[in-house]
Amino acid sequence: MKTILTGDRPTGPLHIGHYFGSLKERVALQEQYRTFILIADAQALTDNFENPQKVHDNIIEVTLDYLAAGIDPEKATIVIQSKMPAIADLTIFFMNLVTVARVGRNPTVKEEIKQKGFGESLPFGFYAYPVSQAADILAFNADLVPVGEDQVPMIEMTREIARDFNRIYGPVFVEPEAKVGGRIKGLDGNSKMSKSLNNAIDIKDSAEETAKKIMSAYTDPTRARKDDPGHPDGCMVYAYHQIFTPGHAAIKEECLKGGRGCVVCKKELIANMNGYFAPIRQKRIELGNDLGYVKDVLRKGIIKGQEVSGEILDRAKIAMKIDYRDILG
Ligand code: TRP
Repeated sequence: MKTILTGDRPTGPLHIGHYFGSLKERVALQEQYRTFILIADAQALTDNFENPQKVHDNIIEVTLDYLAAGIDPEKATIVIQSKMPAIADLTIFFMNLVTVARVGRNPTVKEEIKQKGFGESLPFGFYAYPVSQAADILAFNADLVPVGEDQVPMIEMTREIARDFNRIYGPVFVEPEAKVGGRIKGLDGNSKMSKSLNNAIDIKDSAEETAKKIMSAYTDPTRARKDDPGHPDGCMVYAYHQIFTPGHAAIKEECLKGGRGCVVCKKELIANMNGYFAPIRQKRIELGNDLGYVKDVLRKGIIKGQEVSGEILDRAKIAMKIDYRDILG
């Protein structure tokens, strides 16, 4: 059985961009792959080190999202990153295999540094997170990493690290492949839905919250009256209809002809979106009332994760000649 590893930063509840970009796919893939899902708390701290309570509180939130969306703990293992000492160890060793210049060329890191406005106070830990993400993946020797498009440079770097390690020390690591999911635009028309851009619909949002957000979504600024011809291609409401509304081609046609009002169009989308997420949201509420179970899932995940990653770390250390059992017993 091949192995999947993927993960999320626990900086807030997951949104529908996470759901369609990766989570939905993980739920399908857990049937055929040995699946590990990593709650990347240490990575979240790289740009939230002054906000530990946020990361702490979102461990449970993200776990609720996973379980409500259909991650089955009998098939998939949820692991908390900071509870895996093997990841920290491997990060240290992998740092030797990556140049500062190489991280500097990573387009996602470059973009994030700009977006977060770090300037001269860029934390070393943040700059190093692609290396620790490689450790996340290689600590479980994952074959496949389902991620959003922006994470592809991380997987590329992970492959390079695996290749260099194997060449220098001997074959220990698998070179993983990325499996890229779709991307959902934000409510404001930004190409990325993101918590920090404040343009996201969360999986856990209520029907009312969802409606409010859709009613204020970016539509077509050129359209003053209902019978003006619309421009569905730049409209977020139409973008989401394409996901949630069977027969959305007819909506597009009607809009182009100027025969469709935006309010009606939004209401229809709200009904479909809320219908889609209703069972997931219901399950999330039920799980929220059974936190004993949720915590148990996390405890079991930690044990299993430590077992698997610890064994791989041992092999890496033996290859690197820092195991010392040969001389010390
Ligand atoms: N960097 C990823 C994100 O921001 C989260 C992540 C951490 C991850 N470790 C991972 C994704 C390992 C895939 C594999 O979405």
